[in-house]
Amino acid sequence: MEFKFGPYSLRPFRRGDEPSIVENINDRKVERGKKQTQLNLAINLDGAVIGGIGLSAMNGHRAEIGYWLGVKYWGRGIVSGAVKTLTRYALNELKLRRVYGKVFVVNKASARVLQKAGYKYEGRLVKDAVKHGRPVDGLLFAKTR
Ligand SMILES: CC(C)(COP(=O)(O)OP(=O)(O)OC[C@H]1O[C@@H](n2cnc3c(N)ncnc32)[C@H](O)[C@@H]1OP(=O)(O)O)[C@@H](O)C(=O)NCCC(=O)NCCS
Repeated sequence: MEFKFGPYSLRPFRRGDEPSIVENINDRKVERGKKQTQLNLAINLDGAVIGGIGLSAMNGHRAEIGYWLGVKYWGRGIVSGAVKTLTRYALNELKLRRVYGKVFVVNKASARVLQKAGYKYEGRLVKDAVKHGRPVDGLLFAKTR
């Protein structure tokens, strides 16, 4: 399984990825949720893992999308490309009817990424998560088929 978009691709993790994962994920700014993913792919550039994207809470017709990206790669449209690519696969190949994403209110870039990929805003999830010991609101976005 490999999905190409520009110089990047989505592919399964493999042995030997450990150094690039550590290099890119080991940063407080990369607020990676610890959700168990049922489909977990590396965002690959020239053989290195610069981020990750996956589907969790898969249940028949729907799944939740989640992602992270090494800080030095932010702002280049990479996650937008990854979200579009994986969402297309989820809706068209896996035949899901609904893919949704939840972002922290403060994470404007992440909300923008989902909107650019055609996700619609559905509402505010009051105190949906706890961040640094405090409850924080989330924003719910979904794309359906
Ligand atoms: C979400 C994140 C991974 C985005 O990845 P990325 O590859 O840098 O995103 P893209 O470059 O594809 O697109 C970002 C969009 O958000 C916009 N954006 C960036 N910072 C912004 C801000 N502070 N306010 C509003 N919009 C912002 C960018 O301009 C761009 O939109 P545009 O193409 O219309 O100009 C990363 O930037 C980020 O903020 N991470 C924080 C934590 C995180 O990983 N969250 C994931 C939770 S599931």
